Amino acid sequence: MSNANEKRLAGEAAIRYVEDGAIVGVGTGSTVAYFIDALADLKDRIQGAVSSSEQSTAQLKRLGIPVLDLNATGPLTLYVDGADECDSHKRLIKGGGAALTREKIVAEASEKFVCIIDSSKQVNLLGKFPLPIEVIPMARSLIGREIVKRGGNPVWRDGVVTDNGNWIIDVHGWQIADPVGLENDLNQIPGIVTVGLFARRPADVVLVGDKVM
Ligand code: A5P
Repeated sequence: MSNANEKRLAGEAAIRYVEDGAIVGVGTGSTVAYFIDALADLKDRIQGAVSSSEQSTAQLKRLGIPVLDLNATGPLTLYVDGADECDSHKRLIKGGGAALTREKIVAEASEKFVCIIDSSKQVNLLGKFPLPIEVIPMARSLIGREIVKRGGNPVWRDGVVTDNGNWIIDVHGWQIADPVGLENDLNQIPGIVTVGLFARRPADVVLVGDKVM
């Protein structure tokens, strides 16, 4: 089965987690785009969505789904988002689309995180997909040196500016045996805004196509 087909199945399957009257946290990416399309069919049964990116906001608004401010909604019951890699503990690498910071914020604010992927995203060990890190621009070189000290190969995603006005470093060459430890360690480095490891707060449910992992 093609990846696009599995992504569509996953996006549509996540609809079963949407409860009447909910405000739904919405991630970013091509898999989430299928979820948003399906969500539009029940837009009259939900209050609206909290979006994790300008890209998803545009799609939500185009389909007539109200986009709400997380500061006004309070905690959410459900967050639906894709991933770039997922291990058997539902720990993720995210940020291939540069939306990791708002994604992590909305995931943290949500009771249940349903991650929707195709089977190509499943891995035994995280790190083959270069780990995205959002950084404050003036700290790029400093952070690059810290990554080299830790055995990684930092590559600046030149030309990409995040929705928050920051830059992305993609770290190649890490085999991440301790994702929670690495996430905690990197979070201590000044200038790092967000690490694309979702290990401290992993997904709660992973849908691979329409199958629960
Ligand atoms: C966005 O920054 C990422 O975290 C996406 O969630 C991830 O890249 C998944 O994208 P696709 O669903 O397009 O594969």
